[in-house]
Amino acid sequence: MAALLCLLLPSLLALVTAAEVKNCHPQCRCEVESYGLFDSFSLTKVDCSGLGPGYTPMPIPLDTSHLDLSLNSITSITDLMLSGPGYTTLVSLDLSQNRISRVSPKAFTKLRYLETLDLSQNELESLSDACFFGLPLADVDLSDNKFKDFNLDLFTTRGQELPISVDMSNNLLTTVSTNPQTPGPYIKSLVLAENQLTTVPKLAGIPLQYLSLDGNPITTIREGDFKDMKDLIYLSLSGLSELTTIEPNSFRGLKNLQVLDLSNNGKLNTLSPEVCSGLSALQELNLSKSVVVPLPGTIFNQMPSLKSVTLGPNMHCWKTHKQGQFHRQIGQAKANDVLTCDVAGIIL
Ligand SMILES: *[C@@H]1O[C@H](CO)[C@@H](O)[C@H](O)[C@H]1NC(C)=O
Repeated sequence: MAALLCLLLPSLLALVTAAEVKNCHPQCRCEVESYGLFDSFSLTKVDCSGLGPGYTPMPIPLDTSHLDLSLNSITSITDLMLSGPGYTTLVSLDLSQNRISRVSPKAFTKLRYLETLDLSQNELESLSDACFFGLPLADVDLSDNKFKDFNLDLFTTRGQELPISVDMSNNLLTTVSTNPQTPGPYIKSLVLAENQLTTVPKLAGIPLQYLSLDGNPITTIREGDFKDMKDLIYLSLSGLSELTTIEPNSFRGLKNLQVLDLSNNGKLNTLSPEVCSGLSALQELNLSKSVVVPLPGTIFNQMPSLKSVTLGPNMHCWKTHKQGQFHRQIGQAKANDVLTCDVAGIIL
């Protein structure tokens, strides 16, 4: 019986029915998707994108969970814009590709279920302290704006200290509703690519798993820049056109990091072996168009889990087992693994 249920359950959940939406604004496209055997679970998606200049806040259906306001030439977000009925239930909000340069400090406070916020491709130089305070935001995209610096005061009230680590093992909403004092933040993914950052922002104390700082004018990566970011799994530092130096031990502390993208850093031409120390879980390293080969062979001793290194568009190294080993192994590379490169002449 249990086995039968297991077989049936995925197909029942996949039953999706679309229905008419009441109170859909004529300029928007609304859709309700119901899931489950008795349509027990539904999501209302509202797409008000591409309306052109002269956007005015409009009513949206009650219980809207996804709202798309991209491509509307919006220049500022006022307190009233996101506060009507319907907005309070939003789980995701897309404000990308507008011309937003100002966000009122209380603009987001009513969005207490908001998990995903896309503010990419706007003209933001800053956001007020505490403007995300109390929101269960997990995924924030601020790429392609004009931030010169970035700090975690966005998520806190004035004077509040961030906890050094946050226990994410509990269900997010339960944690929030049973304990309104829970400080958060819960953010797992932060994209700050293509801004004006000249140093790595201090992000310790949040349970971040994915971070992109691609395309910022950062000149140096310093020891301690990623201190206490033990939850980070994916770090992208690609296309940093001004980057000349990565100090030894810069990545120490990133003990769960699996992917490190250091590609397209044209001014970075040396890399000391100590740069990679502490990266004990790293599986993929991308140095394409960054560092002149050959690399110091000992660099790879620092990364026992490494499976793949990209050194250039046509230069790739990967871990293989020595002949006679056919079964796959998971986890740390064993002593009889060898790093093989597809270009002759690379000294590893
Ligand atoms: C490495 O980076 C280059 C340039 O950004 C990209 O084209 C390539 O797909 C990356 N390779 C891997 C294996 O991720």
